[in-house]
Parts: sequence; C-alpha cells; structure tokens
Amino acid sequence: MDGDVAGAIYTTGPEETRELGRRLAALIQPGDLVVLNGGLGAGKTLFAGGVGQGLGLSGPVSSPTFILVREYQGGRLPLYHMDTYRLDDPAELVDLGYEEYFYGPGVTLVEWGERVVPLLPRERLEIRFSFVPGQDEDRLVEIMAFGGRYRKLAAELLEVAGVGH
Ligand SMILES: Nc1ncnc2c1ncn2[C@@H]1O[C@H](COP(=O)(O)OP(=O)(O)OP(=O)(O)O)[C@@H](O)[C@H]1O
Ligand SMILES: [Mg+2]
Repeated sequence: MDGDVAGAIYTTGPEETRELGRRLAALIQPGDLVVLNGGLGAGKTLFAGGVGQGLGLSGPVSSPTFILVREYQGGRLPLYHMDTYRLDDPAELVDLGYEEYFYGPGVTLVEWGERVVPLLPRERLEIRFSFVPGQDEDRLVEIMAFGGRYRKLAAELLEVAGVGH
C-alpha cells in the first residue's frame, strides 16, 4: 500500500463505528472520496450510515446491492454510495460514468474500493475495517491518506476520534 498511513483506532460495538462516520461527515467537503475496505460484515455500510446521518439525511443508508451506486440528496452535501462487491468487471464502473461521481459536487463513499483501485483517483481517503480475533464487537479501523487534502482530513478525523494527540 503506498498511502501515508495516518493512524488507526479501535471501535467497540456498532454504535462507535456509526459515530465515527458521523464525525467524518462533519469534516468532509464537496468532491471528497472515501474508500471503505474490509471483509464481509466488517462495518463498511454501518459507517456509511453514520456519514449519512451526520450529513443530515432523513432516511437510512443501505447497501446499494443490486445497483452499483445510490445517490442521497437532502443532506448538507449530496452523498453517492457505491458498492463494488457484485461488480464482475471494473469496466461496468466505466459504463456507469463513475467519474461524474468522483469529480462531482457531492461526497463519494466506495465500499470494496480495493476491487477498483486502478479506476480510483489517486487522491483519496481509505478506511479499512478489520475484525479483532476473540472480540466480536471490536473493529480495527485504519485510516490512510493519499494526497495533501486527505492527510489533513485523516488528521482531523483522528483528532475527533480521540486519538492523534
Ligand atoms: N465495532 C463494530 N463496528 C461495526 N460493526 C460491528 C461492530 N461490532 C459488531 N458489528 C456488527 O457487524 C456488522 C457490520 O455490518 P455492515 O453491513 O456494516 O458490514 P459491511 O462491511 O458493509 O459488509 P458487506 O461487505 O457485506 O457489505 C453489523 O451486523 C454490526 O452490528
Ligand atoms: Mg456493506
């Protein structure tokens, strides 16, 4: 991985992961791209839901399972939530006109972004959720920044997450 590793925290329980998403929502800006990695059930959608709440969306954010991307309007910023898990071929993302999302006025969250790395803009925030052996309710949350904007965002997120002091 060639990103600058910005830091890592643990969450204990789903609520803490959701809260971290809410806190990121307060920091993100138009055009920001946040990639969410980690295995099945690691917490990516839960975190995305927290981002949606933090942006002030009225409804919940659910995984866009059968469509590749779902758009949420009505919050502080538009939210584009992609999930590439069922993508057979990265070319499908090209067909979707994905660049309009990455370079649009909203914020893009990409679950399973590691599957489409060659298509991603280099500058982005990556968050990886990992299971902690023997601790079902804990997750290791690693935050990586690619590019100056995201080093700042990562530092701000770690600050409000209670670490990085
Ligand atoms: N600390 C934690 N953080 C996040 N989720 C947790 C935590 N502890 C337990 N969980 C549980 O793990 C599950 C996470 O589900 P979620 O849908 O967010 O995963 P996902 O990474 O989006 O999976 P998928 O790859 O299938 O889309 C939920 O059932 C949640 O209750
Ligand atoms: Mg999910």
